[in-house]
Amino acid sequence: MADQWDSSLYEDRHSFVWKAGADLLALLEPQKGERILDIGCGPGQLTAQLAESGAEAVGMDSSVSMVAQARQNFPRLRFLLADVRNFHVDQPFDALFSNAALHWVRDADAAIACMAKALKPGGRLVLEMGGQGNIARICAGTEAVLREAGYKAEHTWYFPSIGEYASLLEKHGFLVHFAQNFARWTKLEHPERGLREWLEMFGGAYFEDVPNAKREPLVREIESRLRPALWCDGNWFADYRRLRVIATSRSGT
Ligand code: BEZ
Repeated sequence: MADQWDSSLYEDRHSFVWKAGADLLALLEPQKGERILDIGCGPGQLTAQLAESGAEAVGMDSSVSMVAQARQNFPRLRFLLADVRNFHVDQPFDALFSNAALHWVRDADAAIACMAKALKPGGRLVLEMGGQGNIARICAGTEAVLREAGYKAEHTWYFPSIGEYASLLEKHGFLVHFAQNFARWTKLEHPERGLREWLEMFGGAYFEDVPNAKREPLVREIESRLRPALWCDGNWFADYRRLRVIATSRSGT
């Protein structure tokens, strides 16, 4: 997740990301005084909600602009600039939390190995990310248009099945208590420009090889192909499927 991120556009138009993550906090049940690491914290809103519960919350993100924005938004909180595939903490945490971040990390094995080391024995991991089948319609529509125009049609996200992610967690010493893959169609913020703003914010990898001047007709074609499936009552929707997991570090059970 190096700096492809525009943190202002993210805050302006994509607040549904952390709004939808709020009920994940309830699954974590943060306790007063607990040390909790928020992995992939973005501009810090959920780290701040963790801190409101009385926990000592620390945010972590690999994007310089997201960490800068988080520090500006919440100057009293601590935010670390670090890559989940390669980070180390001096003192392990009581709990790890992650919302809508780990689907950016294809090397889940390296990420989970680091997370396991950052957690106390018996500590909790509560995460939500894109799961198997996530944004299948957005991907299929975008890829068809790019392929037909002669461009590479590949994304760089990682949307694992329950079995795949749970197996990796077990390999690294976690005990998986709960795992769920469920649909959460999500209304995009701008009624007319919602899909193109989503592609602009998150779909950069698709358009890497497309010269700027050639993008507009492709985006228009993607909108027209996806409108029948993803446009409803005057709004665009993203066909999200979430993977939710609750696990503990096994050495403490
Ligand atoms: C997601 O939250 O599922 C997601 C967000 C941006 C790009 C891909 C997936």
